[in-house]
Amino acid sequence: MRAIQVTQYVKGPHELKVTTLPTPLPSPDEYLIKIHSVGTNFFDILQVQGKYQHQPPLPWISGMEFAGTVLSTPTASKSNLSPRFKVGDRVFGGTQGAYATHILAEEGALLPIPEGWSFEDAAGLFVTAPTSYGGLVTRANVQKGDWVLVHAAAGGVGLAAVQIAKAKGATVIATAGTQRKREIAKAFGADYTIDYGDAKWPDAVKKLCAENRTGNSKAGVDIVYDPVGMIDQSLKCVAWNARLLVIGFAAGKIEKVGLNRVLLKNVSIVGLHWGQYRNFEQETVAGVWDGIFDLVRQGKFRGTSFKDESFVGLESVPKALHALGSRGTWGKVVVNIADGDDALEKGSKL
Ligand SMILES: NC(=O)c1ccc[n+]([C@@H]2O[C@H](COP(=O)([O-])OP(=O)(O)OC[C@H]3O[C@@H](n4cnc5c(N)ncnc54)[C@H](OP(=O)(O)O)[C@@H]3O)[C@@H](O)[C@H]2O)c1
Repeated sequence: MRAIQVTQYVKGPHELKVTTLPTPLPSPDEYLIKIHSVGTNFFDILQVQGKYQHQPPLPWISGMEFAGTVLSTPTASKSNLSPRFKVGDRVFGGTQGAYATHILAEEGALLPIPEGWSFEDAAGLFVTAPTSYGGLVTRANVQKGDWVLVHAAAGGVGLAAVQIAKAKGATVIATAGTQRKREIAKAFGADYTIDYGDAKWPDAVKKLCAENRTGNSKAGVDIVYDPVGMIDQSLKCVAWNARLLVIGFAAGKIEKVGLNRVLLKNVSIVGLHWGQYRNFEQETVAGVWDGIFDLVRQGKFRGTSFKDESFVGLESVPKALHALGSRGTWGKVVVNIADGDDALEKGSKL
């Protein structure tokens, strides 16, 4: 198989190289998957630099999100149940080693690609959709009629959050740093957009709520979805009983928050660590995915892969990671693997 193997930490993605390696042999409880598309994540950049919280012992294959086809199924599972997927099934998932033509995965790391979805769109689903669904539905209990402020709304988790909030009957105010990104947020359903590059953005949120809401709700939004690190500022434009979701710190700084406003406005600040649900609250994971697949079936949730530029072949992974890190992309930056890499792979042993 071909893969981006990290044998020593690099300064940046541009130093990553594609190599040919033996295709791994599955253990009795693993699937072998042929990868067609891979999703990129900011933590992939940190990991190849040795700066991420999960660093496997060297050498390891980079990448975490993928979509592909089942080549072989487990011969024995821990649960003694027959495998959920069969050879040829289209699946997506997340496990270490996705920047490759093949990957091994346990059943818990795989899900079926929704009907009608491309490998490209499915490759970006595993992290963003459940983070936003788990945040808005499981943690913040979004309700019809709520107003939801989604920060960095054109980013990977942001576009998922916009769609989920709208699907649940909320009104969405989306913030983003460029006109193009605000247009994208609108195209995915946002009702209003605001440039949060303007320091007075909380006033713009308050104005929208004062003009369009009634009673206590005139003061601000009911839910804030924050993958950036803007909780303190957002506390200026929330309504009584609001829930503020701490999703991430894309701006690079862990915030300190003035708790006086938390008390005065009777609000909750709620964290979400989606990746840990598999370890601490497995029963919630299936429910979240059922909810997402239901929205997909109703046509209320669609793929968010970045379309302004295309990335084809494993060799374009460094370019895709660079684009992601430069803040110029929207949605999920996905690299399509199949054709070019299959051709290059001829002669290498399966
Ligand atoms: N809690 C969880 O379980 C969980 C799960 C998944 C992801 N996350 C976190 O959520 C955050 C967003 O993830 P994502 O996949 O949506 O990332 P992404 O697609 O790269 O989007 C991040 C967005 O943040 C905005 N941003 C603001 N300041 C920035 C800065 N200084 N540098 C870069 N971007 C900046 C950018 O939008 P503008 O250009 O419009 O400002 C960018 O589009 C990350 O911190 C990630 O670690 C958390």
